[in-house]
Amino acid sequence: MNDLNNLREPESIASIWADTRAAGFTMASEPLTCSLLRTLAASKPSARFLELGSGTGLSTAWLLDGMDSESRLTTVDNDESLLAILKRNVGADPRLTVVCSDGDEFLRSLRGERFDFIFADTWAGKYRLLNEALELLNPAGLYVIDDMLPQPNWPEGHAEKVASLIAALEAMEGYRVTKLSWASGVILVSKL
Ligand SMILES: C[S@@+](CC[C@H](N)C(=O)[O-])C[C@H]1O[C@@H](n2cnc3c(N)ncnc32)[C@H](O)[C@@H]1O
Repeated sequence: MNDLNNLREPESIASIWADTRAAGFTMASEPLTCSLLRTLAASKPSARFLELGSGTGLSTAWLLDGMDSESRLTTVDNDESLLAILKRNVGADPRLTVVCSDGDEFLRSLRGERFDFIFADTWAGKYRLLNEALELLNPAGLYVIDDMLPQPNWPEGHAEKVASLIAALEAMEGYRVTKLSWASGVILVSKL
């Protein structure tokens, strides 16, 4: 088995990657994680999805490719130039709402709302406001993060933040947690 063979990526991905490279964006989500996101998304019909950290829309495109027609995805990033790439490539999808905002502020504004799936790919809802993000999950909802294995671009002190986050997730009551030392390092959390 070769994990990277025949991923059958969404149609928009080639164009998003071309724009992503041209923009010099280096924090893009990798294909394996994105493929997992799509497969998980396909298991949640008529669901509400939240993505924290849209980037240029790679993970957004894969999530949309797994979602059914009744599902809705809200994605947020604070960089308008990255979101312009996302909008150019997948912005016409009626299931998608794109928000340009500070992640912390936006996450706080969602208090009281509920989601079935959260991909937390920025500081908000991952290294900050973790409990606030998990609070947004419906029962049986899924929370997904990646980049948990050491990466060459981690700044000084980041490894300690990752270790603290993993320890916090491991200790939580009311959730079921699985760590995957696969791709960039993925953690799956489901709410009881
Ligand atoms: C790991 S990247 C997201 C990658 C994206 N999910 C993909 O598929 O390529 C993290 C993103 O967080 C965004 N970001 C950083 N600080 C932020 C903040 N305070 N509020 C909102 N977004 C932020 C960055 O602009 C960047 O696009």
